Order: sequence, then structure tokens, then C-alpha cells
Amino acid sequence: MSKNIIKIFDTTLRDGEQSPGASMNTEEKIQIAAQLERLGVDIIEAGFAAASPGDFDAIEKIAQRVKNSTICSLARAIDSDVKAAGDAIANANMKRIHTFIATSKIHMEYKLKMTPDEVIRRAVRAVEYARTFVDDVEFSCEDAGRSDIGFMKEISDAVIEAGASTINLPDTVGFRLPFEIGAMVKEMSEYVKGRAIISVHNHNDLGLGVANSLEAVMNGARQVECTINGLGERAGNAALEEIVMALKTRSDVFSEFDTNINTKEIYPSSRLIASITGIEPQPNKAIVGKNAFAHESGIHQDGMLKHKETYEIIRPEDIGLDMKDTLVLGKHSGRAAFKDKLSKLGFTLDDEALNTSFERFKILADRKKEIYDDDLRALVTNEMTSAPKVFELVSLQLMDCSNGVPSAAVSIKKDDNEIIDASIGEGTIDAIFKTIDRISGYAGKLEDYKVKSVSEGKDALASVTVKVSFNDNEPAIIGHGLNIDTMLASARAYIGALNSYLSMEGKLKSRYSDSSKTV
Ligand code: KIV
Ligand code: ZN
Repeated sequence: MSKNIIKIFDTTLRDGEQSPGASMNTEEKIQIAAQLERLGVDIIEAGFAAASPGDFDAIEKIAQRVKNSTICSLARAIDSDVKAAGDAIANANMKRIHTFIATSKIHMEYKLKMTPDEVIRRAVRAVEYARTFVDDVEFSCEDAGRSDIGFMKEISDAVIEAGASTINLPDTVGFRLPFEIGAMVKEMSEYVKGRAIISVHNHNDLGLGVANSLEAVMNGARQVECTINGLGERAGNAALEEIVMALKTRSDVFSEFDTNINTKEIYPSSRLIASITGIEPQPNKAIVGKNAFAHESGIHQDGMLKHKETYEIIRPEDIGLDMKDTLVLGKHSGRAAFKDKLSKLGFTLDDEALNTSFERFKILADRKKEIYDDDLRALVTNEMTSAPKVFELVSLQLMDCSNGVPSAAVSIKKDDNEIIDASIGEGTIDAIFKTIDRISGYAGKLEDYKVKSVSEGKDALASVTVKVSFNDNEPAIIGHGLNIDTMLASARAYIGALNSYLSMEGKLKSRYSDSSKTV
């Protein structure tokens, strides 16, 4: 029996980016989109093109690069938004415009200040205009979870007539319970039957995003919108990995359904997004949390040793998690072995990126005896997702702080000039960051600092993540640094945040100076 394919619509790059502190630079977004394509996502919502020139640029680049997933841009039901979306995805192999307007009484009355008839007219106009750019148009009834179903039928008739082929019913505020979502989806699917696909987009304010999405599938939804690691506005969106693995693991219940997802790419996707956003899934998070496959109690361990299925419903390898920390390469490994290993880890690098990563690998191999898969993943991800290097660390010298005055001398390259300066600080990190501020002329405010080791051993790579605010009116920017030496990794992370900020400056300015441009 051929199965019904549930389309997976990933909105990590749009709704996920609306998670506080999850702003990403263009290079990071491109790498995430490439990983989502490997994962087998049907539709990638690459952003909200009208939000800023930076958002537009990232969507345009993703549209040029990704070939096997549909690239979608969000647009409010406004001509200028629809045009920006259409222009940004113009070069995509497969493209979709996703336009929306609120349909709940509370949103129409207080937010839009529009009558239901005006809302229908705006929606129809947006869909008709979107169809002049693309054949594939999705329409969302924002706050569908609290909208009148009669009104949603009326607006759906109108937008389907205007050319929409997907009707999305978001539970925007995560208010609904599974049986309510099930009833809404059933009634709407039966109503639009054969004329459009019903999609759901469930927020997780009551922790029900995934349960609501599965109930929707049972009741006729054929597209599910979700994000990796459940990122998203407020409490986030339904997590892609949980929906997909529930459908697969409980194929006895969901026997009619399947997805196009290559589940072995779930873990690499989760790690990539966690390292780019600096937002780690909670340790006990289903599927991708650090403890999701850890068996602590003696009774469980005993059962696992006797027969894995006593306590394991998902095999770690099915999500691409290799439980063995594989030793990969050493300092005598050549370029070919390095390239081969990277392709096994899912990285395809162009010649330039391969050369730089190989150089970094050689430097690391000189100092670290054993290099593991995780070291390589971290190294290459760090290389591939850095913003253009306006400032580049040349050297760092830390002065003797035994007299109680920590100080740092830093040398930084900018436009082929090397600038050296020094400063004292409250501690070593403070001294390093103050010196970088003096050289760059940007006064960053450190909001968060995290260090963790990438693999094990005293010579493990330190991975430092900083969150730095360069302007009080804009969100803080994440920076990453990687080195065996924690202080060098810290300096790199801080400079990385600064470079990222500079690459997004225009985008942040236009986005945060006009609050109407946020969704
Ligand atoms: O939550 C929501 O309603 C949205 C829409 C823009 C689809 O994100
Ligand atoms: Zn949303």
C-alpha cells in the first residue's frame, strides 16, 4: 500500500530565528539550509524577505544553493512583502510564497483594526499577487487556534479561488489541546477536500506542540510546520525530530503515513543548530537531548546489556548518533583522508573551504594527539559559518597576573593592517575583551559566556560561546571560538561575535527600528 507522505515544512530559519538570541548571520543560515536539504525537508522557510536587506540576501543565497527542497519566504498580506518574497526566491529550483493574515476576532479587532470583510479582501489580494511570482502559494490564518471556524471556511474558499494550494492553521499562541486541534483539522480538511492541503503550525506554550501536530495528522493534515530542537517564538514550535520519530517509531499507529526525512541526519542537524544559535536542547529533551540515550540506573543498564529493546525504543544510529567516540585522524593523515572523512560526516566543501579547514586541522593535529568526529564537526562548522572576517586575531599575550592585575596584549588584523594594543581588566577574559574593544572601536557588553570541551582528554578543544550586545536596542549576537587554549578560544569567540554583528548591522538596524517588521 502506498503511504501518504506528510510534508515536513521546516521553519527553523524563520520562526526559529525569532527565538530570543537566535539571530544568525548569512553564512550560518546557508549552512543550516544545506543541512535541512540533506535531512530531506520538503519545504524550507528560509526567512521573511521584507524584514530587512540582510534577511532578503540570506533567502536569495539559499534559493540559489538549495536544489532538492522547496524554498519559501514568508510575507504579510501586503504587496511590498509579497514582492520582496517573490524576488528573493526567484532563482529557486522549487519555490513557494507563504502569506498570512490574522483571522481571530481578537487579532482582527485589536491588532489589525480591520473588519472580517477587509481581512478577506487583503488575503485574496496577497494570494493573487503572490501567484504572479510563483505557482505554489500557502495561506495562513494566523491565530487559527482561536478563530471562528465558519470564518476560516469563508476565507479559505476565497484564497483557494485566488490560487492558494496550502491552507495553514497555526495555533499561534499554543492554546489548544490535542482533541480540539483534531476536531478543527478534521472539519477543515473535509471542507477543503481535494482543493488544498491542510497544514498545521503548533506553538508549544502548553508543551503540546508535538501532540497537537500528531493529532492533526490523524485528522487530515498533510503538512506539518516545525523546527529543529523545537526553536521558535516564546516556548517554541513543535520539534521536527519528535514529530518525525513519533511517526516512524509508532508506525503501527501511523501505518498510512510516512515522511521524506532521512532520520540519520536528525542528530547532525540538531548539533549544527545548537552550536550556531548557542541554544542547547535541555539534557532530557526527547530524541536529541544529551541524556536521551543515557541509561543511568543499574536495573536499566542490566536490561540493556541483556537485550537492548528492554529499555530502548529508538536506536541511536537511526537518528545518526554514533555512540562510539570514533578516533578519526592524526597528524600524519593527508588531505585525501581528511576530505573523505568530511564527506562521511556530511560536509561538502568547496576547494577554498577545504584548504582552510585542512590548515586548521593540521595546526590542531600538531597539538592534539587524537582527533575525533566531534572535533572535526566543530572545526569545520566553525570555519564554514563564520561571518566575513573584518577583524582577525593574530596573537594574544597574557601578562603575569600574580600581582593581581590581569592584562592582555592583543594583535588584530584589519584590512591587511596589524593593530596591537593592551589593557588591564577585572580578570583575564575582561582584559582580553577590553583590548579587543579598544582596537575595534566597538564597545561590546558581554551578556553570556559558556565554555565546554568538544571531546575528552586534557588536550580537548575548548568551545567558547559568547553572547555580546553591541547596541542596547538590538538583540545580542552569538560568537563562537574554538581552540585547545580556552583564552584563545574566548578571544576568537568575541571577535567572531563582532564580525557577525558587522555582517548583520544593516539588517538589525532596519528590523529593530521598525517593530512592524517582526512577525
Ligand atoms: O505562529 C504563527 O501564526 C506564525 C505564522 C506567521 C504562520 O508563525
Ligand atoms: Zn509561528
